[in-house]
Amino acid sequence: MRACPPPGPRIRLLRPGEQAIVDEVFAGLSPRSRYLRFHAPLGALPAAHRRALVDVDGRDHIALVAVERRPLGIARLIRTGPAEAEVSVAVVDDAHRNGVARRLLAELERRACAAGVRELHANVLAENTAALALFRASFAQGPCVVEGDVLRLTCLPGRRARWQARPGLTCLPGRPARRRRGRRRATPATG
Ligand SMILES: CC(C)(COP(=O)(O)OP(=O)(O)OC[C@H]1O[C@@H](n2cnc3c(N)ncnc32)[C@H](O)[C@@H]1OP(=O)(O)O)[C@@H](O)C(=O)NCCC(=O)NCCS
Repeated sequence: MRACPPPGPRIRLLRPGEQAIVDEVFAGLSPRSRYLRFHAPLGALPAAHRRALVDVDGRDHIALVAVERRPLGIARLIRTGPAEAEVSVAVVDDAHRNGVARRLLAELERRACAAGVRELHANVLAENTAALALFRASFAQGPCVVEGDVLRLTCLPGRRARWQARPGLTCLPGRPARRRRGRRRATPATG
């Protein structure tokens, strides 16, 4: 007997050149969501950027798409070093708060671990409370650094059970975050 698939969107790899998927997700983002995702008020994706978003290879540039009759969101990692990558995510506005991003990041975490990525960096505008809550709920947290109005989060794939950063982590300008209270069980580097 075949097991039933879990309810909710199907998560799959974006294939190289699947431009229509990227375009549809972008079209479903409000101006505010586009600003939060790209840190710029984009009416349209610049051509080079649009091409770069489908230049995936499944290892150094992995993009996952959530599909339920239509594309609902995309999460991606782009490797920046042997064990490091940048992570980003966006979900169309009319599907927010349904757990789509959480599912995408759970699968991205699995693939990051399989690809040997030990640190995911997320550049999140300080005003983006939704994304900050999302990343902190989805990953164990390493150091967080403030760069102007951007918080650079360090997410530690595969480490949730061993070192959970919340609560009490705060970001300090140009410096790694420190715990405000509570006892540290292990360092992010070695725990
Ligand atoms: C941030 C974003 C990806 C969240 O997508 P989503 O599918 O709505 O998120 P989920 O439903 O999976 O939420 C998972 C968790 O994230 C947090 N979260 C999500 N939206 C939130 C909001 N508006 N306010 C507070 N917390 C929020 C919560 O902890 C939530 O868990 P809960 O529902 O159990 O409370 C979505 O708002 C988005 O696309 N924003 C624009 C693009 C962007 O900001 N990208 C991040 C920069 S890389």
